[in-house]
Amino acid sequence: MPVIVNEKSRLFIIETDNSEYQLMADEYGVLRHLWYGEKVGMSMEYLCEYPDVGFSGNIYEAGNRRNYSLDTLPLEYSCAGIGDYRISAVSAVHSNGSCALDLRYTGYKITDGKYSIEGLPAVYADSSEAQTLEIYLKDTASDITVTLKYGVLPKLDIITRSAVIENKGESSVFLTNAASLCLDLPRGYDEWIHFHGRHTMERIAERLPLAHGIQESSSCRGTSSHQQNPSIILCNKECTETNGNCIGAMLMYSGSFSAKVEYDQLDQTRLVMGINPELFRWELKSGEKFCTPEAVVSFSANGFERLSHNFHKTIREHICRGKYKLAERPVLINNWEATYFDFDEKKILKIAAQAAQLGVDLLVLDDGWFGKRNDDCSGLGDWFVNTDKLHGGLGTLAEKIKALGMKFGLWFEPEMVSEDSELYRAHPEWAIHIPDRKPNRSRFQLLLDMTRADVRQYLYEMISSILKSADISYIKWDMNRSICDWYSACLESGKMGEMPHRYVLGLYELLERLTHDFPDVLFEGCSGGGGRFDAGMLYYCPQIWCSDDTDAVERTTIQYGTSFFYPISAVGSHVSAVPNHQTGRVTPLETRAVTAMAGSFGYELDLNTLSESEKQQVKNQILRFKKDGQLIHNGLYYRLSNPITDKLAAWEFVSNDGKEALVNGVVFHTEPNHTRYRIKLRGLMPEANYRLAESGESYTGRALMNGGLLLPKTWGDYAPIELHFTAET
Ligand code: DGJ
Repeated sequence: MPVIVNEKSRLFIIETDNSEYQLMADEYGVLRHLWYGEKVGMSMEYLCEYPDVGFSGNIYEAGNRRNYSLDTLPLEYSCAGIGDYRISAVSAVHSNGSCALDLRYTGYKITDGKYSIEGLPAVYADSSEAQTLEIYLKDTASDITVTLKYGVLPKLDIITRSAVIENKGESSVFLTNAASLCLDLPRGYDEWIHFHGRHTMERIAERLPLAHGIQESSSCRGTSSHQQNPSIILCNKECTETNGNCIGAMLMYSGSFSAKVEYDQLDQTRLVMGINPELFRWELKSGEKFCTPEAVVSFSANGFERLSHNFHKTIREHICRGKYKLAERPVLINNWEATYFDFDEKKILKIAAQAAQLGVDLLVLDDGWFGKRNDDCSGLGDWFVNTDKLHGGLGTLAEKIKALGMKFGLWFEPEMVSEDSELYRAHPEWAIHIPDRKPNRSRFQLLLDMTRADVRQYLYEMISSILKSADISYIKWDMNRSICDWYSACLESGKMGEMPHRYVLGLYELLERLTHDFPDVLFEGCSGGGGRFDAGMLYYCPQIWCSDDTDAVERTTIQYGTSFFYPISAVGSHVSAVPNHQTGRVTPLETRAVTAMAGSFGYELDLNTLSESEKQQVKNQILRFKKDGQLIHNGLYYRLSNPITDKLAAWEFVSNDGKEALVNGVVFHTEPNHTRYRIKLRGLMPEANYRLAESGESYTGRALMNGGLLLPKTWGDYAPIELHFTAET
């Protein structure tokens, strides 16, 4: 049983295979955090320090115990307004205007299985795989209660956190902060890694020392954003890929989020993660409850590699759903970088015919097939086919593509509307705007008010009628702007602070309906590349277009950062033309393929423009991906270098039985008179002999892991690394 309770001392121990988490309700009913780390086998209360720190006050019941302070003790869910001056997890404004909550323990419940959260994505697991602990808290002065939920997946070393806040009183209360996770750590966690970036350069891993005070990774853009990702790692200075303590936390949420880390006056570390409190004000009327999104945490005593494996497996097996969750993904060709808006049926069929000949499984028709959409100034919202471009409509095109032996997929951007569209002319009130202000335009487009049921119904009907009108196997769900001008005619003025979260709930509701009603369709998420690359979206879409930057060299950095939390199968990645459309860089076709194969693989160029020998190369690449796809998506992934600081990018896939390994990467520059690069493999069976397919040489696993392998000499820049090892029996 992963959850163990000592009723007498009100101690709760959550055990996973390789970690232990402890909390305790103390003599005042304050819920204290005792431990999260390696297994310890006893209560860690003995480590609690009670320093008498000036200006850190004491709860009333503590009398003149000047060393009992909420401001210094590690707490499980910190409240605002009652003397813990560090960042708080929850705050509420009561009917008398006061803003304080003092939550004390009232009880607990343990159930087998994993809780779910109404209207929100959550990790799922059956009763043989998980247990749920609920801790009940109540405010000392009001009838606000909080249920802290812990989902435990012991085999994966995963603990999930979510809170339900309920108003059992008579008058309304306004929540101004409702975090999913509060995690107080002892001294020693003094560094953090966050994933920052911008459009076409997402999730760049940045490791920094924790400075005293507060540091934050967040988004207030209405989406999880290109700029910061809802995932962070806390670690100590010594932590490496394979050694040292680290904790990963990931929010399963696709809207504005905040992950704040406070390194306090006593060098203790507190992480608070959840919906961004900026622009959040939620009215809880009498009898209502608010459920926070879910945070997923994992501890590793063996460095980042183990942490990533835990998150990869959890996302693949307990977050992604549907037919494609673990299935082989189709190799696709997308016409975006091949044609942009300039296409017609003939052009698309020519691209498709060539792709089919080379072994591609699916053609994705990107932006521009609908309404009046010849550039990005118009047409969004008019989800009916543009017969000027596609004379026979989608049905005929899909049939012709099918006749080539391929499946057909389609791009949508459902949440948007162009002012120059039939939809906008019919329903200007559906576009998000503040009545007396001009709305902010981004890519010339406005957002539809996803909090409105009529908007969601319209989108459901339009998308489902398109899906029924033709044989469509795939949808790319794009979203190309950040959100502001928060106002909805359907919300009372006092509830406008609910809109950002209600937008996300509306999006999830629509996605749930469509994915449920069209279970055979593969949904790929997208937001100008990876602007909404989060575990919330992965609950509906098992893969997400990773970045609008398709340059193989830049992608090594983007995919490196992405890999800390997200599995390879989730990473949409394509081979595109050279010179690359984002950077002008020319890289070898093989390098582009090797990089794109570290993902859900495809092509995004007109293959007709390639030479015959390049076409043969593409054919071989597709065959290789079909052969190695299971190893790449189901195997264990290892980062062998850091492309930001090293002269090469290298990564490795090892099959679950350890018998096969594939090392891929890119050597950025060839230097003259240079010794050869050496990389050390990981995850092999030490005693086994591995044959390297490319040279026929054999090596022991131990040699490859301890001594490593000298890479072949390269010629020219951006050379691909391709090494296949198979254990000899
Ligand atoms: C942004 C996406 O990331 C691209 O792949 C493409 O679909 C464009 N939008 C189309 O407008």
